[in-house]
Amino acid sequence: MTALERPATRPQNPFFSSGPCAKRPGWSLDNLKNALLGRSHRSAAGKARLKLAIDRTRTLLELPDDYLVAIVPGSDTGAVEMALWSLLGPRGVDVLAWEAFGKDWVVDVVKQLKLGDVRVMEAAYGQLPDLAKVDFSRDVIFTWNGTTSGVRVPNADWIAADRQGLTICDATSGIFAQRLDWAKLDVITYSWQKVLGGEAAHGMLILSPRVVERLESHAPNWPVPKIFRLTKGGKLIDGVFRGETINTPSMLAVEDWLACLDWAEGVGGLDALVARADANAAALDRWVQSADWIEHLAADPAIRSNTSVCLQFADRSDEEANKGRQKAVVKLLEAEEAAYDIGAYRDAPPGLRIWCGATVETDDIEALGPWLDWAWEQTR
Ligand SMILES: Cc1ncc(COP(=O)(O)O)c(C=O)c1O
Repeated sequence: MTALERPATRPQNPFFSSGPCAKRPGWSLDNLKNALLGRSHRSAAGKARLKLAIDRTRTLLELPDDYLVAIVPGSDTGAVEMALWSLLGPRGVDVLAWEAFGKDWVVDVVKQLKLGDVRVMEAAYGQLPDLAKVDFSRDVIFTWNGTTSGVRVPNADWIAADRQGLTICDATSGIFAQRLDWAKLDVITYSWQKVLGGEAAHGMLILSPRVVERLESHAPNWPVPKIFRLTKGGKLIDGVFRGETINTPSMLAVEDWLACLDWAEGVGGLDALVARADANAAALDRWVQSADWIEHLAADPAIRSNTSVCLQFADRSDEEANKGRQKAVVKLLEAEEAAYDIGAYRDAPPGLRIWCGATVETDDIEALGPWLDWAWEQTR
């Protein structure tokens, strides 16, 4: 076999981390020069900025008019936990997990909230649990796109339209790259640093009218910290959904989110964002098909992510050796400034994880393939 030559061109933007994700093409600190810094977020100007971030998010996502949107503390984790602590209790719970983050929500429900009537439905890395077994008379918690396994739900057809329970969906690495069926989702959460490449800080909490009903009719029988509280005296604190945040937000991060929305609208809105991620994932898949040493962790294309694409080594006879090889490839490509942060998540099978979300350019995915082949050979 002839040795591969070191590729002549690097990806222009070698940022392939699955969070924080690549900044959008053209991002610059100059975009933030109008940030409302040193002003109160409760001033008229501060509230207007926060409300604008909410309203423009709603427009870009094409949300139903009666869904509520809030900027909340604690990033995506904050938004999910706010929902779990505020809503669970009145019904049994089905909690689905097929990778690390879904498993975190299992821990919350089983070990922290200690709910009695819980069915945990798990699947191994690369697979989904049997969605046909989910019972929608219960509350259902799931992750739309499992960032650490690269497995997503294919659609929302498996969710009952006439459900009695609530669906609580951690959508952080799917939203803006995959079409979500709003009518099937009651709680949707995400954070800014994923598909649109915003600054990490805040979570977004999107609620259907059915959630408001639950919030106003149910009082959790455990303490709810102020940071998670969505009701006061049994009534929704509706200001939260107009930009009156629970505590102090970063106005710099808010400004960056507004600039993300500008970019997203400029490239053509939601369909264009989905198309960009699809094109990136397709380009990466073409390379995977050409390489004999690596394969998709999600064997079934129908459940394969178009954002956090997870790959495993074809030879899996020695896991420890593969972990070493993963480290070596990642280190070499970082040193070469050809790719950053592409190692598989620590709990996932050894391999690579390459972010293909909307802020990544397809040319860069195409330029990455030869570097991966080269690094694999170099670390043999
Ligand atoms: C599916 C999923 N859920 C939750 C989180 C945690 O998000 P955050 O760090 O924004 O709280 C992540 C982070 O990557 C994630 O991918």
